[in-house]
Amino acid sequence: MDTRRRYALVGTGHRAQLYADALLGGHADVGELVALCDPNPTRMAYHQRRHRAARPGAADLPQYGPAGFADLLAVERPDAVIVTSVDATHAEYVCAALGAGVDVICEKPLTTSAAGLSAVGAAVAASDARLVVTFNYRYSPRNAAVRELIAGGAVGEVTSVHFEWLLDTVHGADYFRRWHRDKANSGGLLVHKASHHFDLVDWWLADEPEQVAALGALRFYGARAAAGRGVGGRPERSHGDPALATDPFGIDLAADPRLRALYLDAEADDGYLRDRDVFGGGISIEDNLAALVDYDSGATMSYSLNAHAPWEGYRVAVNGTAGRVELDVVERGALVPGEGLHPVLDPSATPADRSGDLRPEGERLLVQRHWEAAYEVPIENGDGGHGGGDALLLSDLFIGPGDDPLARPADWRDGVRSIAVGIAGNRSLESGLPVRVADLGIRFLQADAMAGR
Ligand SMILES: NC(=O)c1ccc[n+]([C@@H]2O[C@H](COP(=O)([O-])OP(=O)(O)OC[C@H]3O[C@@H](n4cnc5c(N)ncnc54)[C@H](O)[C@@H]3O)[C@@H](O)[C@H]2O)c1
Repeated sequence: MDTRRRYALVGTGHRAQLYADALLGGHADVGELVALCDPNPTRMAYHQRRHRAARPGAADLPQYGPAGFADLLAVERPDAVIVTSVDATHAEYVCAALGAGVDVICEKPLTTSAAGLSAVGAAVAASDARLVVTFNYRYSPRNAAVRELIAGGAVGEVTSVHFEWLLDTVHGADYFRRWHRDKANSGGLLVHKASHHFDLVDWWLADEPEQVAALGALRFYGARAAAGRGVGGRPERSHGDPALATDPFGIDLAADPRLRALYLDAEADDGYLRDRDVFGGGISIEDNLAALVDYDSGATMSYSLNAHAPWEGYRVAVNGTAGRVELDVVERGALVPGEGLHPVLDPSATPADRSGDLRPEGERLLVQRHWEAAYEVPIENGDGGHGGGDALLLSDLFIGPGDDPLARPADWRDGVRSIAVGIAGNRSLESGLPVRVADLGIRFLQADAMAGR
């Protein structure tokens, strides 16, 4: 008897490939892909071709559009659904699958709105099926090391966190080219991106956010900000732009076979342009964000996100009654024309030797306890993406989490907590006032309200 779990993939774009590859490769012994769901047939065809190549002779995967999702559940009878669609669509798939008793693995963010949170909460309460949110940053060894230090009492009781995240002009710019640029799709970077960071803090501190005050604006990207700096007259998109080869803010979809197949060739189906000008109109998300967050324990966080930095990485400091932990990470020290303008999309484009570089890529974790010298904590990275973290995440998802002393597997409550900060932050951006998480109407936030689920 075939005991492999049956998975359906919803949203067959870029991110879907991580899960599809795992089921076609390293985890094929425990799970199989049984259906695809996406409004775009060309993108589904891309994944279908990869499936055919990995399973010669196997029948093609059945394909469904969003309107056929209920049929997919009824006909294909998956054990679980993997949701990797546009953020604002997550909640409806999560609710429908849970309602049918089907487990869900959902990419972050769980949803983008308070209404979505309430709907997911109700669906979880009414279902025996399991909902997991995939927070891959927890699995990165350096982030796990911070959790271990704090849980081990290295800083005593945590009193405050200072967290700065920098996205460079390749990675950061990418959110201003495609669907993320519309807050209705992504919830803005406070939800879409910062939910990773807010989850890390919730997890590091084993705490819950209570109140959020946020400020932010579109200061660099977008037509208005660019015009203020004399930047204008740019084409609406990169494709077909004669100046593309020398434009550091362009992206060449035609030059990359994967980008071409997933996006350029798929445009005729739905009009989704993956390469819109970052200095064009119609952007409703912020590129500079600041937030103050209060936690249940009394700890506070000052948080900052910048999406147009010259280097990429983050800095975290956790202060406690016994000392302080500092994590500094440089993921990309500089973007140097000629070394691959789009290294985020081309992981093999590593920068050449820059011996004089004052910002070398790497990470440093320091602990300093009161009345003691600082010491560095070595970080042991594994093979593969995110220091071996991706492999651990996939193993937890498809084989099952063991007894993880670091409690890395995230459940639906973690998904809720992480975006509650972003959603409250968005409300605060609108009103100019602090917003209490409890006022979002998410009554089920309290961990003990649904203990054991
Ligand atoms: N954890 C991470 O590090 C990470 C990294 C990248 C993306 N993601 C998440 O993965 C998800 C997908 O992002 P992506 O980069 O693959 O984007 P993408 O644009 O490549 O793919 C999104 C897919 O969703 C499809 N879609 C749109 N509307 C839909 C609907 N109503 N129903 C079903 N599918 C629909 C699109 O056609 C597209 O194929 C997002 O939620 C994103 O936050 C997470």
